[in-house]
Amino acid sequence: MNIIFYGHACFGIEINGTHVLVDPFITGNPLASHINIEDLKADYILLTHAHQDHILDVEVIAERTGAIIVSNYEIVMHYGAKNLKGHPVNHGGTFKTETFSAKYVNAVHTSSFPDGSYGGQPGGFVISNEEKSLYIAGDTAVTMDMKLIPMTTKLSAAIFPIGDNFTMGVEDAIIASNLVECNKIIGCHFNTFPPIEINTEEAKNKFAKANKELTILEIGKSLTL
Ligand code: NI
Ligand code: MN
Repeated sequence: MNIIFYGHACFGIEINGTHVLVDPFITGNPLASHINIEDLKADYILLTHAHQDHILDVEVIAERTGAIIVSNYEIVMHYGAKNLKGHPVNHGGTFKTETFSAKYVNAVHTSSFPDGSYGGQPGGFVISNEEKSLYIAGDTAVTMDMKLIPMTTKLSAAIFPIGDNFTMGVEDAIIASNLVECNKIIGCHFNTFPPIEINTEEAKNKFAKANKELTILEIGKSLTL
């Protein structure tokens, strides 16, 4: 499983040749101005919720690639009305393909489209193939529901928001990593806007003190699980 960071909460995940794009928000992110959305590959686009900073580039990418949008029912219906392909799930449900599965799990947040219309309930995804599992928490507070994940899944890594203000911050993300029983955390949802600016070195040190590893990927850089 190869994970590339496209800024904010957007990641491209390559799983045995299948390309999964998560929460595309690139053209609105000045920190990601070196990423060209025309170059991005996507067989599936996973959306955690309907907020602008997670869906801005969905339509352009889905139209070009023909990718299948996987998200909650309301979000998939929204894009279906625009003739984009999708597969709806809801909390607790797992979307399965030949190369990977993606379980839609609880998140504590909100979900409305930029025009204020209803975007269903927000979630996260647990993406698994035969060897590895990756938890993408989505925008969320730390929540006891995270304890459910290790009951069924041994995580290889987890992607957590760490920017505070709209989501959990670093201290709560450390608690979350205990709840999901995973010490390898990849940070997201920080530094894109002034309210979520953080000191990433300090954040890494706090994780290290808790015997955990926080990876801060440069935008455009990747890591392999
Ligand atoms: Ni949000
Ligand atoms: Mn967000």
